[in-house]
Amino acid sequence: MPNITYIEPSGQSVTLDLPVGWNLMQGATANGVDGILGECGGSCACATCHCYVDAARLGELPPPSEGELAMLENTASERKDNSRLACQIKVTEALEGLVVTLPPTQE
Ligand code: FES
Repeated sequence: MPNITYIEPSGQSVTLDLPVGWNLMQGATANGVDGILGECGGSCACATCHCYVDAARLGELPPPSEGELAMLENTASERKDNSRLACQIKVTEALEGLVVTLPPTQE
């Protein structure tokens, strides 16, 4: 199970072993990580799972779908070049060690 590190809005980091096939929103909400809501349950319809992916590893991820790009227009916190929706990123072995920073607010 790959390790994924979340940086909460407070600056606290939480590293979790997540099952392959989960998504990064699931992994955070199931483990009580602060700074992520996932209100739509992962159907790419709320943007409350906004996160900033380690920019150096952004290219390792599948690119965002049109739907994800549209929802990223609605983030509560500043959208950046490395903004993604955590529910749209599937955990794979290749993501071992990925660091994901959560924004100041999701609503
Ligand atoms: Fe709603 Fe990701 S959980 S868009």
